[in-house]
Amino acid sequence: MKYRHAFHAGNFADVHKHIALVALLRALQRKDKGFFFLDTHAGRGRYALASGDARTSGESQAGIERLLATCDRSSRQAAAPELADYLNVIEGWRRGADARHDYPGSPLIAAQLLRPQDQGSAIESQPAEFEALRKALGRGSRIVAEHGDGYQRLRAHLPPASRRGLVLIDPPYEDTRGDFRAAATAVRDALERFATGVIALWYPMKDQRDTDRWLQELAHGVGRPMLAAELWIHPPDSRAGLNGSGLAIVNPPFQFAERCDAWHAQLQEILGGAEAGSRIVSLVAESR
Ligand SMILES: C[S@@+](CC[C@H](N)C(=O)[O-])C[C@H]1O[C@@H](n2cnc3c(N)ncnc32)[C@H](O)[C@@H]1O
Repeated sequence: MKYRHAFHAGNFADVHKHIALVALLRALQRKDKGFFFLDTHAGRGRYALASGDARTSGESQAGIERLLATCDRSSRQAAAPELADYLNVIEGWRRGADARHDYPGSPLIAAQLLRPQDQGSAIESQPAEFEALRKALGRGSRIVAEHGDGYQRLRAHLPPASRRGLVLIDPPYEDTRGDFRAAATAVRDALERFATGVIALWYPMKDQRDTDRWLQELAHGVGRPMLAAELWIHPPDSRAGLNGSGLAIVNPPFQFAERCDAWHAQLQEILGGAEAGSRIVSLVAESR
């Protein structure tokens, strides 16, 4: 069966990944010089949460909807700036798209934030998802939708002319072992061409021992500053399916880890129960 992100759109893992995405894009925007954003596994871009697959799964209720209800406008100033920023971006998109019950995927979130000097490409391999993405981005978007294999297109796009950029690698992990392997190869490929690029690779937390081993191997092959930002809602070794959401970030921006600790703590409290937790693991000493 072909993976359909609509089942998971706006769930706790999407929220975790997209808060980090907004924070990473903002960090690149501290400088005026433009940059390139590459989304290797883009999805369809726009997800209707009140109908179809998303409604069937109900996952967004325990994700974006719970977060919005907890951090409403009156209480938002108490939230970590990264969390508040993300929620403002989602609400801004909903207002602009006149879509109160929809959720924007990574390419649409990035399209909201890119400045005139920034550019982006979003790659999707499934024809129907790609068509939906092209439509969702619309004409005149700073992000170009491409139909193809994100792992291959990554090689063609890097290094970007601006020599500044963020690569988001977010595979479906339908073939779990295959995607863990392919994603690690993609990170090495990207760094061979673009050693200073910021790379964010999402991974599912299922079996902690396997994931920890994979992270160590990844860090060894990377040889650049790298951290793992993990948030779990079930104990990392439970058999619940998806226990948590992980992001391996290569060349993290200055003080990303410290800031991440602060918004992780709030997110874990809001979206998780007694079994939730989070951690930042520094895998290669972060450059200062
Ligand atoms: C987890 S979803 C992406 C979600 C999206 N990044 C977001 O955060 O909103 C993964 C997507 O990758 C697509 N996909 C699977 N294999 C791919 C490949 N080799 N190249 C590009 N896209 C692929 C799937 O069809 C699916 O839409």
